[in-house]
Amino acid sequence: MLTGKHILVGITGGIAAYKAATLVRLLVKKNAEVKVIMTEMAKRFITPLTMATLSKNPVLADFFNPENGEWNSHVDLGLWADAYIIAPATANSVGKMAAGIADNLLLTAYLSAKCPVFVAPAMDLDMYRHPATLGNIETLQSHGDIIIEAESGELASGLEGKGRMAEPETIVACIGSYFEAPFSGLRALVTAGPTYEKIDPVRFISNYSSGKMGYAIAETLAQQGADVILVSGPTHLSPLHPNIRRVNVISASEMYEECMHLFPSCNIAVMCAAVADFTPEKQEENKIKQKTDLTLSLAKTKDIAAELGKIKRDGQILAGFALETDNELNNAREKLQSKNLDFIVLNSLNDTDSGFGIDTNKITIIDSSGEETWFETKPKKDVARDIASHIRQKYGQITDFEL
Ligand code: CTP
Repeated sequence: MLTGKHILVGITGGIAAYKAATLVRLLVKKNAEVKVIMTEMAKRFITPLTMATLSKNPVLADFFNPENGEWNSHVDLGLWADAYIIAPATANSVGKMAAGIADNLLLTAYLSAKCPVFVAPAMDLDMYRHPATLGNIETLQSHGDIIIEAESGELASGLEGKGRMAEPETIVACIGSYFEAPFSGLRALVTAGPTYEKIDPVRFISNYSSGKMGYAIAETLAQQGADVILVSGPTHLSPLHPNIRRVNVISASEMYEECMHLFPSCNIAVMCAAVADFTPEKQEENKIKQKTDLTLSLAKTKDIAAELGKIKRDGQILAGFALETDNELNNAREKLQSKNLDFIVLNSLNDTDSGFGIDTNKITIIDSSGEETWFETKPKKDVARDIASHIRQKYGQITDFEL
């Protein structure tokens, strides 16, 4: 899938620059044509000779060759590239990219690039979690850049935490699936976040869902070519990929209405929202006063996944989630069947690295065929890619579906 593709690799000055050598080697092994741009600082961490040898092309670093005055045109590079991957991307470079600063060849090529840009940040954990860096990463995402998140582990500083550049294999897989665009021409519905069930004008019933998993799935499906409709309960997140259309809802009944309306025209639906199972029977128009004793009478909400399961046509894929605290496998298998899902993603609150608001998840996919696939704890973005692969595998078996 990378054969003949023109891949521009930008290396900035961080210790993870040594991993760029493996990255370039893997890309060349996949028959991509690779050109490398290095910043001055990157050259201190890994030599241009290494990168030129591995990429089979002279390394670019300056705006012009000081020996003969030959111009290295960032515009031409931007046009040449089918993909630009900046790995490692230091906090400094991420900041400059977000601000549109263009004081080296790597950055001017970034501003000139017409192709998808992949950014693999790498830095110390405190720099990574600083609001300035997080804001800059978000800005890049809003420009359509694809962020390959840093991983957690031991850092060069000796500290332990998030900031280690994604492994070269992960980066290559991410670029590969972009070009494969396996979902292109398909429409996907994703639900995410919690719902709010109104009690009175100031109070509601809800749950701890942050929406991170659903947003990651929407993002991945969009990156892999799908047109995504994200029906989202209230969250602090914003979908970033241009192929995602967000439909905001508040309550379970609003989410139900939207999904019932949208599902018939979708090929894929992933029900990731933590929908409230109960809603107050009566919503007070005025604030309930504390003087009175209060007993809330609750009515069951509609089970959206189960209702979609009833109207599902041959060729549509419907996936759900099960977040369990006990008897996990049996509960998940039961939900898979009763909601007529094609597969269910089980995560347990007993796993310390899974659950609400956390950036990682540990899942088991249980397929309607009965097959179970167990995964290790991973960042939610990687979990989303595993789920997308499962959908791809299942969708590959579908021959005929007319919207
Ligand atoms: N779901 C839904 N509508 C609901 C409740 C759940 O669409 N009213 C979907 C969720 O999005 C998820 C799956 O059903 O994909 C399972 O949700 P979960 O909350 O784990 O289970 P419930 O079916 O609500 O069962 P219980 O709360 O009894 O565990």
